[in-house]
Amino acid sequence: MDSKNILITGGAGFIGSHVVRLFVNTYPEYRIFNLDALTYAGNLENLKDIQEKPNYTFVHGDITDIDFIKNLFCEHRFDGVIHLAAESHVDRSITDPLAFAKTNILGTMSLLNAFKELWQDNWEGKRFYHVSTDEVYGTLGETGLFTEETSYDPNSPYSASKASSDHFVRAYAETYGMPIVISNCSNNYGPNHFPEKLIPLFINNIINEKPLPVYGDGNYTRDWLYVIDHARAIDLVFHKGENRETYNIGGFNEWKNIDLVKLLCKLMDAKLGREEGASEKLITYVKDRPGHDLRYAIDASKINRELGWKPSVTFEEGLAKTIDWYFDNKEWLHNVTTGTYQEYYDKQYQNA
Ligand code: NAD
Ligand code: DAU
Repeated sequence: MDSKNILITGGAGFIGSHVVRLFVNTYPEYRIFNLDALTYAGNLENLKDIQEKPNYTFVHGDITDIDFIKNLFCEHRFDGVIHLAAESHVDRSITDPLAFAKTNILGTMSLLNAFKELWQDNWEGKRFYHVSTDEVYGTLGETGLFTEETSYDPNSPYSASKASSDHFVRAYAETYGMPIVISNCSNNYGPNHFPEKLIPLFINNIINEKPLPVYGDGNYTRDWLYVIDHARAIDLVFHKGENRETYNIGGFNEWKNIDLVKLLCKLMDAKLGREEGASEKLITYVKDRPGHDLRYAIDASKINRELGWKPSVTFEEGLAKTIDWYFDNKEWLHNVTTGTYQEYYDKQYQNA
């Protein structure tokens, strides 16, 4: 494989940090640049183990800063971009939708534009990979799966901003011939997941014997995938995916929230040496999320058939590894749940 300069955006976040680690360790011939603004969700502690590697460089910067991005692309002449930086939490998008439009739409356009200006006379060997979400497809009823042909129908400001960014990526391919690829993935879980999302929030609350705020009746369904399996899929799509194609990535692993929460309670009771049923008593039904999508489920047969990808761990294994990681990394958990986290928590869960 040739030497290449690869830009990974959002590499200090949850999924991005696993992608950066995989690329830095697997491709010593690449120079990996991790560009991250270090918002509340970005944390360089996630990358402590690889920060000294000779093929790794961290760049502190904001993808919405158009001049800064243009200069960065001119300086390093990135052959490939893997774009993960985003505002990613649905609940925050409900309270601050404009922040999501800025980062997810304008930020993506700023990267697309810098890449276009750099390479538009010769796209040979270049690739812009946009990492997106299954939420762009809206919601499913009790049956059916999202395929790559499902129409976009986003319901939250978060998913609308991601859908918009996907459209701009496609438009740059159609209009300027940019070699792009997009993937749309289901809910990830695993190490380094910020404890505002369901699984790490509930792990943290169970440890601290705090209420577990289940939205609505808890009968919402998500399709869960271990984050390292998503990173493996991103590696395959980046290297082997076809230009202008979309790949859906998912765990073939649907869970109703309430069933997942009960399983988590059981595993956590065992881990903490608490009496069985102790954590379930913490379950508290709270006001529903506005515009709450009923069900997501991915048909991942295309990436399986064309690129040979499938999840490598079962949900039981992945969840056990995740719980172990939070127990082994109490300092990480402590560091991210102090400071402004408490303000967010109090505002979001004031009635819990
Ligand atoms: P995250 O919130 O954990 O991390 C986002 C990262 O982006 C953080 O490090 C943050 O500092 C950085 N960032 C935010 N704004 C920035 C800006 N303006 N400039 C530079 N960096 C900025 O998110 P995540 O869960 O790791 O998701 C990563 C990507 O994957 C997102 O694009 C998201 O839409 C997508 N995705 C996430 C999931 C999931 O379940 N978490 C599933 C499918 C797709
Ligand atoms: O599907 C992919 C998406 O998955 C990603 O694009 C998003 O970035 C990621 O945040 C995730 O979105 P969700 O909204 O599905 O994830 P979250 O963990 O916030 O919620 C999962 C389910 O749990 C959802 O039905 C809402 C519910 N929930 C969540 C929280 C935080 C609760 O019942 N209580 C809670 O406190």
